[in-house]
Amino acid sequence: MIVTQILEDSKANRALVVEKLLQGGCVALPTETVYGLAANGEEDTSVAKIYTLKGRPHFNPLILHGESLEAFSKHIVVNPTLEKLVDLYWPGPLTIVVKKKSATDFALASAGLETIAIRSPQNIMFRDILKQIPFVLAAPSANPSNFLSATSAADVARGFQGAYLEQEQVEKLYILDGGPCHHGVESTIVDATLDAGVRILRPGPISAEHLQKQGFPILHDDRSGKIMAPGQLARHYAPQFPLEIQCSAPQPHQAWIGFGPQSFTHTNLTFNLSQKGSLEEAAANLFHILHKLNEAYLNPHCQFDSVAVDIIPETGIGLAILDRLKRASAQ
Ligand code: TXA
Ligand code: MG
Repeated sequence: MIVTQILEDSKANRALVVEKLLQGGCVALPTETVYGLAANGEEDTSVAKIYTLKGRPHFNPLILHGESLEAFSKHIVVNPTLEKLVDLYWPGPLTIVVKKKSATDFALASAGLETIAIRSPQNIMFRDILKQIPFVLAAPSANPSNFLSATSAADVARGFQGAYLEQEQVEKLYILDGGPCHHGVESTIVDATLDAGVRILRPGPISAEHLQKQGFPILHDDRSGKIMAPGQLARHYAPQFPLEIQCSAPQPHQAWIGFGPQSFTHTNLTFNLSQKGSLEEAAANLFHILHKLNEAYLNPHCQFDSVAVDIIPETGIGLAILDRLKRASAQ
């Protein structure tokens, strides 16, 4: 069973988390996107613990987090596209898929692929932890596999508390509380292994428009249907309730997630992603609202049988919000 413990931010608690990582364990840490479930990315035994705690299939590779490009450079093929992306966007919410130098590097974190996904997060608590350890951290989103990502310490705890592990094992999971995550959706993932430009594997806070404006040609996936990032699976980020998206109004039996000032407030349960119609604010609120609704749905007195979401504009980080909602609503 997993027993969670939320740790308020203090020097002593950061030291506790560092100690756990040095011993090869897993901890949940805040990042500017979503909370991450972190462990030594260079040790397969530590990485294996992440897969076990999340119940994640081993074919789904993890993102490695380091202080800077130098933390990875021994193990990866550096090309001009990578260098330019790093200069512009690191530290920040951009994950870059690059070629590994050797097949055996980060074997488990990369799920045996020839590539590895790397990122340098901006969150100062996460960066302080990285400074105190001599390895990079593998860190998928801190949620059980296929469930909603977590953007607060309480949402991490809600996902894992009491989760069953094999062999009656009891595992203490520390969650370092960094407050709500700034962006609220996972990093943008780009494939930088091709010379002609970048391919977007997962939309996120850094938009295709922005990358294009900075001079990166956007390549479109020609291998239709082939999954390179399992975050691209049709059903992912899933709550337990049925979800309908791009709705103009709720039905009487539905809970409602509105967007903007004109949104309805007359159904039995109503949230608003952003009263003022800001997509950035909507992204930051998204997963927390889905968590709240999931909790309400599991209550025996629940008054709704599904959830409808307002129309979200298909631009900027709105595309990342819609990507997560589409996967959450897929049957
Ligand atoms: O914002 C984020 O990126 C968060 C925070 C914690 O950093 N992390 C995160 O990790 O979202 P995760 O494991 O939930 O999502 C990682 C995605 C998965 O869809 C995985 O398939 C993809 O990255 N990925 C990892 N390595 C890859 C690779 N070599 N090629 C293609 N996709 C890869
Ligand atoms: Mg995830």
